[in-house]
Amino acid sequence: MSIMKAFYNITYSRFRAPWDIGPRQELVELVESGRLKPCRAIDLGSGTASNCIFLAQHGFDVTGVDYSEAAVELGRRRAKEAGATVNFVHDDLTNLRRITGTFDLLVDYGTLDDLAPKDRDLYLQNILPLTHRASRFLLYCFEWEPRWWERIVFKISFFGNMLLEPSEADRRFGSYFDIECYTRHTDYSRWPSGEAVYLMTRKGE
Ligand SMILES: C[S@@+](CC[C@H](N)C(=O)[O-])C[C@H]1O[C@@H](n2cnc3c(N)ncnc32)[C@H](O)[C@@H]1O
Repeated sequence: MSIMKAFYNITYSRFRAPWDIGPRQELVELVESGRLKPCRAIDLGSGTASNCIFLAQHGFDVTGVDYSEAAVELGRRRAKEAGATVNFVHDDLTNLRRITGTFDLLVDYGTLDDLAPKDRDLYLQNILPLTHRASRFLLYCFEWEPRWWERIVFKISFFGNMLLEPSEADRRFGSYFDIECYTRHTDYSRWPSGEAVYLMTRKGE
């Protein structure tokens, strides 16, 4: 088992994760404003399950996928407590085996930016078949230009990269999606020093 997966399993089974803060603001805004309408949705790295439960409560047909067994267990327990129907699947986004079909909406809050560069390539290869023309993809990531010492820390720490560099979303997704930068904040007096949210729409084939 990778160190990251062990970290997530321990976090979800023994502690309250720092990102366990309820459904995320941009997702709530987009659903409540009607820009994202009920449809078949998948949460990539569903973790605390807050986004899955929020979507299910707003009429979406929701699948949550996570490679942490503890996340899947937590999600199932929380969905049951909330009276929400969510299909939680244990699977690895760099090598999907159990997810089939396509989705109208993909959501990723903080999973892609966790991955090492080669796993980011695999992630893209694995999620593209889950899309069809006009599928939407809401992506939240840490994003800033890393300082020299951060590049060293990211290289040697088991947390890996932790962020997307500012041109990375365009480089990775631009051939496949039309990309709207929904929000972006950068503040080098804080750490993490930036975040961005992208709302992407799958281009026609
Ligand atoms: C920072 S957490 C965010 C969790 C969730 N989006 C939330 O907001 O509660 C990243 C999540 O991605 C999951 N994850 C990381 N790498 C993964 C992979 N290769 N396949 C599936 N899930 C993965 C982790 O287990 C973790 O739950």
